[in-house]
Amino acid sequence: RIVYVNGAYLPAESASISIFDRGLLFGDAVYEVTAVIDGGLVDFHAHQQRLRRSLGELGIDFDPASIDLMGIHQGLRDRNGLDEGLIYLQISRGVADRDFLQPEGLEPSILLFSQALPLIDSPAAERGLAVITREDLRWGRRDIKTTQLLYPSMMKTEAVGGGADDVWMVDNGTVTEGSSSNAHILTADGRLITRGLSHDILHGITRAAVLDYAREAGLEIEERPFTVAEAQQAREAFATSATAFVMPVVSIDGQPIGDGRVGESVRRLRSLYIERSR
Ligand code: PDD
Repeated sequence: RIVYVNGAYLPAESASISIFDRGLLFGDAVYEVTAVIDGGLVDFHAHQQRLRRSLGELGIDFDPASIDLMGIHQGLRDRNGLDEGLIYLQISRGVADRDFLQPEGLEPSILLFSQALPLIDSPAAERGLAVITREDLRWGRRDIKTTQLLYPSMMKTEAVGGGADDVWMVDNGTVTEGSSSNAHILTADGRLITRGLSHDILHGITRAAVLDYAREAGLEIEERPFTVAEAQQAREAFATSATAFVMPVVSIDGQPIGDGRVGESVRRLRSLYIERSR
C-alpha cells in the first residue's frame, strides 16, 4: 500500500513520523475521512472546508490550500487502484520537544492513506445496527475534528463486546452522536429530528447532504436535541457518516425501533444518498 507523508508517496512499511509528533503525544492534530465511490471522491470540498475550520479552531497555522490536497487524494487513489473505500488525512501541529505549551511556527505533519472497503453493499445496512447508550464524557468541543478519539473508541469496544454494534452518546439526557457518526430519528408523521449544530457535535458532512435530500423528499426537518426515550419510540432511527452513509439503527438499549427492522424511509434515504454521491 502506498501512503503519503510530508510531501512523499511511499510504501506504508517505509513511511515514518517522529516520536515527538504532537499528534502522537497530545492528540494535537485534526483529520478528515473522505469516501471514495466508483473512484470518485465524495463531497471533497465540504471536507476541506471543515478541515480549514478545525485547523483554525486549534490555532494550527497551516493553509490547506497551500498544497494540492485534491491532487494528493487522487494520487493516492490512483497509486492504490482504489475504487471504493476511504482516504484518511491527518494534519498535526508538528514536531517539538514535549511541552504542554503549544510551540509556534512548527512545520505541520501531513499524512494520508487509503483503505479499500465495501461501503455500498454493506451487510450492516441490510441488518441495521443495535446501539447502546452511554454518557458522553468527551470534551466540549466535539465540533473540532481532532484525533482525540479514545472515549468513543472505548465505548464502541464496550458496545461490540456486549453484542451490540455501536454506541449513541448522551449528554444531559439527550443524544449527541454515535462513536463516529451523527444520530437522527424519524417520527411516524414524517419529521426528521436531528440535533442542531453547536459545540456538542461534529458538523457532519453526510448529515448536511442527507438533510438536503430529506427536505427534497418532503420530510420536515426539526433541528433540536432528542432524548433516548424519544428515540426508542421513533418510527425509524439512523446514523450518518462519510463511510457509513445512511445507516439504519434498529434497536436502542435492546428496545426495538418501530418493528425492529430496517424502515422504508431510511432505506430510501440511503439509496438517494448513494445515487447522488456517485
Ligand atoms: N467520523 N460525528 C463523529 C464523532 C464522527 O467521528 C463522524 C465521522 C461524524 C460524521 O461526520 P461526516 O458525515 O462528516 O463523516 C459525526 C469519521 C467517518 C471517522 O472518524 O472515521
